[in-house]
Amino acid sequence: MSKKEKIAFGKLNLMRNDLLDGKPKIRIGFVGGGPNSFIGYSHRLASRFDNRFSFVAGVFSRDIKKSIKFGISLGLDPSRCYNNYNVMAKKEFKRKDGIQALGIMTPSGDHYKIAKPFIEKKIHIISDKPLTATLEDAIKLEKLIKKHKVVFALTHNYSAYPMLREAKSIIENGMIGKVMLFNVEYPQGYTVGISKKNESTILKWRLDKKLCGPSMILAEIGTHAYHLLRYVTNLEVKEISAEVNSLSPELSVDDNAFMVLRMKNNARGSIWVSSAATGGENGLKIRVYGNKGSVEWFQDDPNNLKFVELNKPTKIITRASNFVSDLSMKSSRLVAGHPEGFFEAFANIYTEFANSIYDYNKNKKFKYTHPSIEDGVKGIKFIFAAKKSSKQNSKWIKI
Ligand SMILES: NC(=O)c1ccc[n+]([C@@H]2O[C@H](COP(=O)([O-])OP(=O)(O)OC[C@H]3O[C@@H](n4cnc5c(N)ncnc54)[C@H](O)[C@@H]3O)[C@@H](O)[C@H]2O)c1
Repeated sequence: MSKKEKIAFGKLNLMRNDLLDGKPKIRIGFVGGGPNSFIGYSHRLASRFDNRFSFVAGVFSRDIKKSIKFGISLGLDPSRCYNNYNVMAKKEFKRKDGIQALGIMTPSGDHYKIAKPFIEKKIHIISDKPLTATLEDAIKLEKLIKKHKVVFALTHNYSAYPMLREAKSIIENGMIGKVMLFNVEYPQGYTVGISKKNESTILKWRLDKKLCGPSMILAEIGTHAYHLLRYVTNLEVKEISAEVNSLSPELSVDDNAFMVLRMKNNARGSIWVSSAATGGENGLKIRVYGNKGSVEWFQDDPNNLKFVELNKPTKIITRASNFVSDLSMKSSRLVAGHPEGFFEAFANIYTEFANSIYDYNKNKKFKYTHPSIEDGVKGIKFIFAAKKSSKQNSKWIKI
């Protein structure tokens, strides 16, 4: 092993995060993520990955019998399985060993009202995206978090892939020069062929604007793409021109959005998100072009990053190799060549959330390394701006 290789291996070993090193585990509860939920398993698994949390309580159904049954099947004490988040907040607060953190994975329109009673009891929050269904709720949530000084993380999980973070580091270090152009795309195909008869079984609460917000497709994957763009480039959007519509003939909600963006640094680019792309699975892709080079990352090939420097041959940088940045290396667990993927990236957000809580408990402050409440509010502003633009024949709207 060369000296360089040894250094890389050492760094990676240090990042094997299941060592608690004397830190106590954080007691966490979950609201949502019941038996048939889509994302509940990912949250529970991600919270266990690096040994930072003890999962001790939850609301898994509004029916107490079902909530207890599911909680028991997960190994919980039945007395800590609730059917109402207000009751859970009160009862957990009274316990000496009550929860210190809460994960929320219910339909988005309920995120604010579920988070509120816990935040008021100083319980830290990790929530799924989008932050809320309305801008009013997003702003109220931000104020509440700032008032009670709790840690908040939003699970924009894609931003925690190691090679996506390598792209961020390359851009931050000026290795592609000034960002000029970009494209983020996320084609999925799950609404193709949906009919009035079966849309409610597939889209469930996503048909209800109070729970999903004004745009199904922007709530589902649009905010992920928007966050990724801001995270990787460190740039903010100035204005947006959008066409958000429903291409499937019988669908009641939107399933496709094309957006052109002007950035504050004058870069130009586009975001395309869709559930109407026949055969599309989770084809998330980001490409960023600067005046000296470019980077390209595709979720289908998450352990590799394409990096081009002007007039030089294309490089493929591999995850956890000797050549990656500390940020990327810290986000990896396995040595180079073994594939890492979706769950590991999701777990990075949980581990960073835990680290923020440890820092907060020690110093009463912490530095955001995971998506924050500000990111959440920006995501909701983006949804509303895109919808507004689309309603006005793609007029440019300032964000
Ligand atoms: N990060 C991601 O990649 C990702 C992927 C999918 C969904 N999501 C987000 O996760 C959230 C949940 O989406 P889903 O697809 O898992 O939905 P889902 O319909 O599959 O599951 C929702 C769960 O919440 C429960 N629930 C609803 N209201 C509740 C309440 N008041 N109290 C307790 N439990 C309640 C339901 O019983 C169900 O178990 C949404 O905000 C969605 O946007 C994120």
